[in-house]
Amino acid sequence: MTMFTLKRALLTAARIKQCRFFSASQNNWNNRKGLVLGVYEKEGETDSFDLTTAARSLDDAVSGKLSELLKISGPALKKGKNRIFYGLHEDFPCVAVVGLGKNNAGVCGSENWDTGKENIRAALSAGCRLLQDLEVSHVEVDACGDAQAAAEGAVLGLFQYDLLKTKKKTKVTTQLHGSDDVAGWEKGILYGEGQNLARLLMEGPANLITPTAFADTIEEKLAPYRERVTVHKRSQGWIEEQQMGAFLSVSKGSEEPPVFLELHYNGSPDKTQAPLLLVGKGITFDSGGISLKPPSGMDAMRADMGGAATVCAALVTAVALKLPINIIGLAPLCENMPSGKASKPGDVVTAKNGKTIQVDNTDAEGRLVLADALCYAHTFSPRAIVNAATLTGAMDVALGSAATGVFSNSDWLWERLHQASVVTGDRVWRMPLFQHYTRQVTDSQLADLNNVGSSRSGGACTAAAFLREFVTAPHWAHLDIAGVMGNKDEVPYLRKGMSGRPTRTLVEFAARLAQEA
Ligand code: BES
Ligand code: ZN
Ligand code: ZN
Repeated sequence: MTMFTLKRALLTAARIKQCRFFSASQNNWNNRKGLVLGVYEKEGETDSFDLTTAARSLDDAVSGKLSELLKISGPALKKGKNRIFYGLHEDFPCVAVVGLGKNNAGVCGSENWDTGKENIRAALSAGCRLLQDLEVSHVEVDACGDAQAAAEGAVLGLFQYDLLKTKKKTKVTTQLHGSDDVAGWEKGILYGEGQNLARLLMEGPANLITPTAFADTIEEKLAPYRERVTVHKRSQGWIEEQQMGAFLSVSKGSEEPPVFLELHYNGSPDKTQAPLLLVGKGITFDSGGISLKPPSGMDAMRADMGGAATVCAALVTAVALKLPINIIGLAPLCENMPSGKASKPGDVVTAKNGKTIQVDNTDAEGRLVLADALCYAHTFSPRAIVNAATLTGAMDVALGSAATGVFSNSDWLWERLHQASVVTGDRVWRMPLFQHYTRQVTDSQLADLNNVGSSRSGGACTAAAFLREFVTAPHWAHLDIAGVMGNKDEVPYLRKGMSGRPTRTLVEFAARLAQEA
């Protein structure tokens, strides 16, 4: 027997042993373990591939069977394509192999994101979902050279809002495979879970996610961190004392009591450090009020608290990550409903700073609740104020779901938000704050301001110009997230539904700010 035939015989024996082992483990199929492995497209060769480090070591463990199967099962795996192999390894009855694209992808100047990270998120999300559909309950995940992006892909990909369905998707637990970057993996899990918390709140129906229920959920999430976090659920009486007339003019049409949620996270060792202020629009249902919206698609307005959901979820994540920074989160929470008590077009209301506002369209309610929240935010002498709001349909018309629109009076703040978004892939794009738009909202028959612009054009910009009338801080950014509120199939690593965007960008921004003096 030559050395070659001896080796062949040993390999065959080893494979037979694995197959026997696998068939025995079939009885216990509910506890099956899955594995997701990555494969790169080979540079310069169309029908060839390179295995990741983890995929190579599995391939070695099964004597080259993985690469053999990849070759015979079809064309080389392109980015976004995947394949499942059964019975390949005794520990993993199901192995999903996912295409990562080229190995050298990095930050792309024209796309404004890190293509390599995006490819990893998309591929691992798809792989985990494939295994979830096979009812595999535990999945080990190849880090693919970036454990954080891998964890984000897995956690975001597996999320499904099925709380209210009888038949639920398999609960899948995940574990890092073939890498020692446990810190990166755990960070990615927290980033992904943060965005999933925002998705949970946004997707939930408005009869369940009322202002009170929203505040209670966030309070519950923060309960384990009592020593570093304070939660105030401010009631109607407090809101009245604060003279938040613009916020109250929205909430008064509803039977649900408003809540002004105020969260304080003291993460900085320097107790006196000026806080980062995060402010989110929290309309738990936007019917339009007396300026009633058309019925088609109105159900999506249960997610009109997306600003509040993303900023609160970002704060919860910052706390879980123990970021050394002070953050205050503010969320004016209420419904916008038509009733005998609701605001009427032409009504004039007075905001906390004394400015009067003619409410010509009760559907432009987000800017009213934010006006008072922004005034209140200034009382904390903030380092920067970032507000997020599903503010205008015009924002969706302008950028669609590609990026959040950012209106900022500060190049310093814009640059930091932009840098954070390149890393997370949840992009931002700068929009103008010209006096041109300010003139359109200061043109009011009865009051200092009108809540709608005198022209219908540039609706996202006139809304931002309106908010600026309540800002004196030098570093403020308004994020209009109406366009990124939901996902159909644009972000490949999120299932269809409310997106929770841009929670990870807010977290990354805070994490980077925490590193600055
Ligand atoms: N919540 C809506 C904006 C919105 C629309 C968010 C679609 C997400 C998806 C907001 O309160 C609103 O109704 N804005 C009006 C403003 C208009 C009356 C000036 C709009 O965009 O039509
Ligand atoms: Zn509205
Ligand atoms: Zn709204």
